[in-house]
Amino acid sequence: MSNKSVRWVGHSLVAALALCCLGGALPAQDPGLALTPPMGWNSWNHFACKVSDAVVRAAADAIASNGMKDAGYVYVNIDDCWQGQRDSSGVIQANEKFPNMKALADYVHSKGLRLGIYSSPGPQTCAKYEGSYRHEAQDAEQYAKWGIDYLKYDWCSASRVYKPAEMQAAYKKMHDALARAGRPIVYSLCQYGLESVWQWGASVGGNLWRTTGDISDRYDRMSVIGFDQNGLEKYAGPGHWNDPDMLEVGNGKMSHDEYLTHMSLWCILAAPLLAGNDLSAMTPDTLAILTNSEVVAVDQDPKGVQGHRVWQEGPYEVWMKPLADGGKAVGLFNRGEDAATIKVNFSDIEVSGSASVRDLWAKKDLGSFEGSYSAQVPRHGVVLVKVK
Ligand code: GLA
Repeated sequence: MSNKSVRWVGHSLVAALALCCLGGALPAQDPGLALTPPMGWNSWNHFACKVSDAVVRAAADAIASNGMKDAGYVYVNIDDCWQGQRDSSGVIQANEKFPNMKALADYVHSKGLRLGIYSSPGPQTCAKYEGSYRHEAQDAEQYAKWGIDYLKYDWCSASRVYKPAEMQAAYKKMHDALARAGRPIVYSLCQYGLESVWQWGASVGGNLWRTTGDISDRYDRMSVIGFDQNGLEKYAGPGHWNDPDMLEVGNGKMSHDEYLTHMSLWCILAAPLLAGNDLSAMTPDTLAILTNSEVVAVDQDPKGVQGHRVWQEGPYEVWMKPLADGGKAVGLFNRGEDAATIKVNFSDIEVSGSASVRDLWAKKDLGSFEGSYSAQVPRHGVVLVKVK
């Protein structure tokens, strides 16, 4: 069978599945969406409600020119606080900070990037702007008309109008509306891991779902969120990912080693990589952390397997992510307060005998090792290697 017909059969299977299981004559969501974890930028972590058309254009300009686009960052996502009033027919309008959403989408697309937006299944968003409750179809149509490529759908006030048992239906409702609107839109569920979303997020059409409450730019919060993801790996795969929240790299409250831990762990977790800093005012160190090609390749590996913890002793942890070429990405993490030597036993990562080890942050071959590899790891730091 040619590649084209394999793809065609794949697409029609997904279409048939959508018809049978999502109810009604629903067009299939694009099966090619989010085959690797989505990469891009989101306004919330740095700008919160100070987001505007100018801020979003500046982010797009930065991504397109600073190497981030080449590294794989394509989604430019507006979070909360863009919404204005509905018009007399109920069609949502942006507020005065976004004078022309269609023109903004055209601008972002002209840079070879994609535009994301944000809403809630409830009457109001978390920042008390207009939500999509009872306007799901209209909102999905408006997003498609504007040229939106990604929707983060945040539970927020939905708890006022839905019972927890209705959450899946509320999320499916917007998925179906998006599918009917006919534009491929990555669908990001944000409900902080409630109701064990990882067990049903994919079945309501989610391409990713938040597994935790909000991250902050603090080592304690980031590390609790990240290291707590162990065990969720079986729910992630191409098209449907666990989301431990957006990146804080470059926002200034963590050390260099702590940001390396953040980025390394998110890549081992096959987490969405949504930069959350001000891209137009970024240090070379921050850019280097976000764009290291060998580290990003761990996240974007086509096998699409989320990594997990293979060893732990007190504050020292070893995590492993199997890669498509048979190699293993291995993170030696030191959560302790002093530098320490951490060892990975090859038997813990299903490698027998001797193997070559490459330092991914340094992009440097370290040689061949028999049975294990040890490294000195700084306080709150990481050594990220590929073992093959
Ligand atoms: C919630 C989400 C955040 C952000 C804010 C916006 O807290 O978890 O990621 O979207 O709402 O109000």
